[in-house]
Amino acid sequence: MAALSMDVYKLGFIGAGNMAESIARGVAKSGVLPPASIRTAHRSPERHLVFESFGVKILETNAQIVDDSDIVVLSVKPQVAKQVLLDLKPFLSEEKLLVSIAAGIKLKDLQEWSGQRRIIRVMPNTPSAVGQAASVMCIGEMATKKDEERVASLFKAIGKVWTADEKYFDAVTGLSGSGPAYIFLAIEALADGGVAAGLPRDLALGLASQTVLGAATMVNQTGKHPGQLKDAVTSPAGTTIAGIQELEKGAFRGTIMSAVVAATKRCRELSQS
Ligand SMILES: NC(=O)c1ccc[n+]([C@@H]2O[C@H](COP(=O)([O-])OP(=O)(O)OC[C@H]3O[C@@H](n4cnc5c(N)ncnc54)[C@H](OP(=O)(O)O)[C@@H]3O)[C@@H](O)[C@H]2O)c1
Repeated sequence: MAALSMDVYKLGFIGAGNMAESIARGVAKSGVLPPASIRTAHRSPERHLVFESFGVKILETNAQIVDDSDIVVLSVKPQVAKQVLLDLKPFLSEEKLLVSIAAGIKLKDLQEWSGQRRIIRVMPNTPSAVGQAASVMCIGEMATKKDEERVASLFKAIGKVWTADEKYFDAVTGLSGSGPAYIFLAIEALADGGVAAGLPRDLALGLASQTVLGAATMVNQTGKHPGQLKDAVTSPAGTTIAGIQELEKGAFRGTIMSAVVAATKRCRELSQS
């Protein structure tokens, strides 16, 4: 019965790199679409084999991808997005939904270069590779409710999805786009602290990454404010408050806030240049 009610459509990727692979694998693995409904085209034979290995249909050209897809995902690097869309303009039509994940490229530019108004722009992040992406989508003027539902289900296959106005996208890039790198640094620093305090390196790194995962899961699953969770584990004159006092001396929270604001500003500069 499940198969009968499945919403099957054809999904094509223009630019079959890392992000396209994460999305295609997640979509196929979660059963949102059968792999035979996904198509890619390749310049390098190695990438061709990667996608073929999990059942994706391989075509010859970008134009064939557009022709044979209901949803076309633009997943090339932002620097080449304009030329790729100008080349595909004759093959696109409002019968197709264009989804762009190209960082920093605005709906108005996508519209101008592609001639399409049925567009959804999405900003995912690197944990898509392990099914834990934080993705934000904004809906173009001609995209339908069904388009929105389909795109949400595609990105739910690789993590969590929010919908937001496009005016927030630079800040989204500064927070969830760049955020994984901030947390990689934090994990490395926790592990280095463990080593400085006498732990073996492997144990320190394992404890550091699991502690970050556990703390994030507690915030997500309990719905409690992080300050409340912090207060609950901070006993008077105890070890945790001694550590927090050091973090505050080093402007821990202010530094992270400034990092998000600086990355947002840089994203704005890059998308204007
Ligand atoms: N990675 C992330 O965490 C992340 C997060 C949010 C948004 N994004 C966005 O996702 C997009 C893809 O990023 P990525 O990390 O997946 O990059 P990537 O691994 O470099 O993938 C881009 C792919 O596009 C192919 N390509 C280049 N020019 C092409 C053309 N004219 N026609 C068809 N394919 C072409 C490249 O092939 P060759 O290797 O043969 O050149 C490559 O396979 C970018 O726009 C990026 O801003 C990425």
